[in-house]
Amino acid sequence: MAKQFILDLIKAMTLEEKAAQLTQLSPNYFDEKTSVTLTGPYRNFDLTKEMIQNAGSVLGCVDAETYCKIQDAYLKKNRHHIPLLFMADIIHGMKTIFPIPLAIGGSFDLKLCEESAQIAAKEASVTGLHVTFSPMADLVRDPRWGRVMESPGEDPYLNSEMTRAMVRGYQGKDLKEPGRLAACVKHFAAYGAGDGGREYNTVDLSRGMLKEYYLPAYRAAVEENVALIMTSFNTIERVPSTGNPWLLREVLRKEWGFRGVTISDFNSLDEIINHSIATDSKEAAKKGIVSGLDIEMMSACYVTCLPELVRTGEIKEEWIDEAVLRILELKDQLGLFENPYKDADHSGAERIWLCEKHRKAARKLAGESAVLLKNNNVLPLSKANKKDLKIGIAGPFAESKQVLGGWAGQGENKDAISLADGIRTVLGNDNVVTAMTQELQERLTGFLDVKDETKEAVKALKDCDIILAAVGEHPGDSGEAASKTYLRLSKNQEKLIHELKELSKPVIVIVFAGRPMEIEPILDDCDALIYGWFLGTEMGNALTDLLFGKVNPSGRLSISIPHTVGQIPVYYNCFQTGRPYQGMSPQERFASRYIDCENSPLYPFGYGLSYSNFVYSNLSVWTDPEKRGARASVLVKNCSDRDGTVVVQLYIRDITASVVRPVKELKGFQRIWLTAGEQKEISFKITEEMLKYYNNKEEFIFEAGEFEIMIGDNSEQLLKEKIIIQ
Ligand code: GLC
Repeated sequence: MAKQFILDLIKAMTLEEKAAQLTQLSPNYFDEKTSVTLTGPYRNFDLTKEMIQNAGSVLGCVDAETYCKIQDAYLKKNRHHIPLLFMADIIHGMKTIFPIPLAIGGSFDLKLCEESAQIAAKEASVTGLHVTFSPMADLVRDPRWGRVMESPGEDPYLNSEMTRAMVRGYQGKDLKEPGRLAACVKHFAAYGAGDGGREYNTVDLSRGMLKEYYLPAYRAAVEENVALIMTSFNTIERVPSTGNPWLLREVLRKEWGFRGVTISDFNSLDEIINHSIATDSKEAAKKGIVSGLDIEMMSACYVTCLPELVRTGEIKEEWIDEAVLRILELKDQLGLFENPYKDADHSGAERIWLCEKHRKAARKLAGESAVLLKNNNVLPLSKANKKDLKIGIAGPFAESKQVLGGWAGQGENKDAISLADGIRTVLGNDNVVTAMTQELQERLTGFLDVKDETKEAVKALKDCDIILAAVGEHPGDSGEAASKTYLRLSKNQEKLIHELKELSKPVIVIVFAGRPMEIEPILDDCDALIYGWFLGTEMGNALTDLLFGKVNPSGRLSISIPHTVGQIPVYYNCFQTGRPYQGMSPQERFASRYIDCENSPLYPFGYGLSYSNFVYSNLSVWTDPEKRGARASVLVKNCSDRDGTVVVQLYIRDITASVVRPVKELKGFQRIWLTAGEQKEISFKITEEMLKYYNNKEEFIFEAGEFEIMIGDNSEQLLKEKIIIQ
């Protein structure tokens, strides 16, 4: 039930004031001296002074002083003293930067993921920020798309659980609580399914695929009481999400019961004109309000057209009132009517930004997010001979601090720990040799051939015991508007790794990237390989902890790594097809396969090595006598002399159903600590809910029948048992 003072406010507002309340502008509209980096195309709207001074919210992150200055000036002019709402992108940290979300997804550590969001909220709220445009919950299967880095990965269940954890971390139980932010889940919906992995491209999915794979994580955010949801640039069933009544009213409001605020993406309401479902701003405004879009971000259809649309009777004023009500209720939930500055604290930044506690959390999560993909017994580096262990480091990321990844909030590279600095803390300066100038290293990620420059540089490492190749993609090559068709390391880097191999010393490759890259070409040249993603501020320390065994790797892949870009999309939870390929002989041609590549990825979802050796045995599955469902248990033993964490994964297959079902689906996971030699029984409860799916009548149903229960270390290495569940 809305509060009376809010209803009274709406009654007192003019049509123009209400339309402005639905508009979001960047800070420079309120304070010309403020410089912000726009996250979309700049357009100059012919806004009047009144439109600006009645706008409801601000997009962009600035410091506490500027936010307070803008709020003060605004409240003096706003007739109803309705406070501004400040929103910005705090995606994986504010100042202390955590690994990119694609890496955090691979940690499978929900508790630490939630903690990282809470720390981000604490660090951001002292600036006076109220809302973060996070978590990004888009399911991703196509590494050509630059924004895979922002997602928890390719699995609906993992994405849902990581999304829930982040909403909890940002929002807590009460938005008024200090150090909390309202969360905005995005991009609703299925922005990650663009054709060809090309940015902003067409998405065309059946409702079944939408509901099976792409919608669950957004719904999970709604179930976790997320305060806002952002519409995506793309179409759903040939209608742009931002002007899509089925998506925003039928699914989001009616089916899911979402009562929060909907907000467009940057200029995405105006862009429905480019999509060609509106002829002008007026028609775009009408489509937006009819669809249930509340806030228009960085375009001016609402503020310039809604009042007239009401006066001509083309739209109902109550649709505007509904949107204004939800926005004012959000401001009230944040306590802004009592305290429009919320947690703004000029000295807060110095006190908590990058503090030891936050750095420690970032280091721990980074250590759990990096993935050990190959290890020919060269890792961990032995501490015994550490005093005379000389390490040579080559490649663009040897000394680089550009390791925060895209969407790094207010994070600064200068605060990051480079790989070389991390190792120096353990070996000292004299035992770390870097092979080349930073200038040459930076050219390695480019396509300009560095010719023999690396050959010379590599000679400097000939007396080292171990060689580290710190390679990857240029940090600017991932994130928004960064789709690529070429996913291999640059030729310079592939050549460098080959030259390093010729030193006849153990070569450890560490890949820094915001996406899965084609790493097969360098696999034979290395004795160990760690996928380091972009691990954030504490990257150098976290990787050093892993290299020297202070931390035993537990990270897994949240997205498949393909053999080649030609395989994309390749993902684990696929359908079997009518002619499944089961490794038949080449003569048996008629199977669903390629003639020049295998079907499975180079490394599958859920894969990651440890320094321990975890052995699974004794899978047993039985039906649950009380209610429809089952139970499963397995023994896991740490058959090594090193304590470690194992991510035990549960997959289920519905063998026969009314529509085709995936060959397996992740339905549970547990991070388990096992000391050297320890064995534990790990069990999972399988509920009826876990066995349901959407049929083609959009009913979420359970069908009795045979199921295959699988438990193991990744989506390919699994113990399996079939069971009938009635
Ligand atoms: C960008 C992004 C979105 C972000 C918004 C505001 O275009 O698509 O993820 O939250 O604009 O910066």
